[in-house]
Amino acid sequence: MKYHFDELINRKNTGCVKWDKAFPACDKDILPLWVADMDFPCAEAIQQALKEKVDEQIYGYNTGFTPAYRQAVCGWFSKRFDWEIDPDTIFYAGGVVPAIAYLLEIMSEEGDGVIISTPVYYPFRKKIEATKRVVVENPLINEHGMYRIDFDDLEAKMARNDVKGMILCSPHNPVGRIWTKEELLKIVTLAKKYDKWIISDEIHCDLVQKDYEHQPLLKLAPEAKDRIVVCTAPSKSFNLAGLQNSNIIICNEKWQKKWTSYVMERLSLNGPNSFAIAATIAAYTKEDSEQWLADVNAYVDENDAFARACIQQYLPEAIISPRQGTYLLWVDVRAYCEDEKQLEETMLKEGLILDEGYLFGEAGKGFERINLACPRSIVETCVKRLCDALHK
Ligand SMILES: Cc1ncc(COP(=O)(O)O)c(C=O)c1O
Repeated sequence: MKYHFDELINRKNTGCVKWDKAFPACDKDILPLWVADMDFPCAEAIQQALKEKVDEQIYGYNTGFTPAYRQAVCGWFSKRFDWEIDPDTIFYAGGVVPAIAYLLEIMSEEGDGVIISTPVYYPFRKKIEATKRVVVENPLINEHGMYRIDFDDLEAKMARNDVKGMILCSPHNPVGRIWTKEELLKIVTLAKKYDKWIISDEIHCDLVQKDYEHQPLLKLAPEAKDRIVVCTAPSKSFNLAGLQNSNIIICNEKWQKKWTSYVMERLSLNGPNSFAIAATIAAYTKEDSEQWLADVNAYVDENDAFARACIQQYLPEAIISPRQGTYLLWVDVRAYCEDEKQLEETMLKEGLILDEGYLFGEAGKGFERINLACPRSIVETCVKRLCDALHK
C-alpha cells in the first residue's frame, strides 16, 4: 500500500456538510458518520491536477467535454470493467441525483409509476415525488442480513401499465449488495418483456469488497441499450463530491435529443467546471489515482472486519449485512431497540450521528448505516458509542 488513511484530518469549519451541518447540541464532540463521503485526503495526482489548475491564475469559460475528457471516462471503464462506452453517449450532470431528476422528466410523465427496491438510497424516492411521479416499491427480501430481489414481486410491478421503469441501485446503497450477472440479466429480461426502462445508478461501482466484481448493466446487456441509462461519477470513487460532476451514459437517440433540449438548452447545464474536469481526468487516467483507490478499498475492508468483530462481540444479536460493495455498513439493531427515534436521540447523547435506517424506507426501521470511509480510530469510537447507546 502506498497510501495509509489512519491520519485524522480536521474538516470542521471547511464548509463540508458531513462535519459542519448544524446538529442539535450535545455534550460530546459529535462523530458524524452519516453522509457517504470519505474522511480521506484525495489521491496526490488529483491534488496535483487541481493545484496546476489554480496556478493558471485565470478561470474563464472552459471547453467542456473535450475529446480528452471523454477519452478519460471511456478509458477508465474499459480498463476496469471491460466496458466500451461510445464517447458520444456521455452526458454531463452536476451529480447523479440531479441526473435522475432530469431523466425522470425526460423518460416519463407526471403520475407514472417508477419502481425502487427498498430499502434504498432515499433521494430516489424524493426525486420521484418531486417530479410528481409515483413510487412503486419492490421490497428486497432480507434473509438474516443477506438481501435479494423479490423477482415475483418485481415482475408483478413491471407488468403494470402505470409503471414506466425502474431505478436500480447497483451496487446497492444501503444494503451493500453487488448484484450478480444472473440477477441483473433477470431484471433486464423483465424490462424487455414489459417494455420498461432502467436507470442504473452505478455511482458506487469502484467501491468493492475484495472478492467481488461490479457488473456494468450496459456491458452485460448491450442489446437493451435503448432502454438503459447508466449513471456514473468520479465523485464517490475518488471523494470529489464537492466538485459536482457526473457522467450519464445515454444510448437511446430519442432520450439524447430530449436531454439536449431539456437539460442543455432549457436548463443551460452544459458541462463541468474547470476544476471538475481537471480532477476527473486525473482520477480516471493517473496510475496514482488507481493505486489510491485500491488502497482505499483495502483500508475499508479492514475497517469492515474491525467494526464487524467489535459489533459481534458487544452486540451479539445485531445482524450485519455482508458488505459486497460501497463503504457503508448496514446493521440491523432491532434486537436492541423498539423505538428508532429514541435510539437516534440516545445516539446523539453519545455524540454519534449515523444515517438512520428509517430514512431508506419502512424496511430500514431499526437499522443503522455506518460510513466506514474514515480512519480506524474513528470507526473504533463510533462502534463504542453505538454499543453504549444500544445498551442504554
Ligand atoms: C446510490 C447513490 N446515488 C447517488 C449519490 C449521490 O450522487 P451525487 O452526489 O452525484 O448527486 C449517492 C451518494 O451517496 C448514492 O449513494
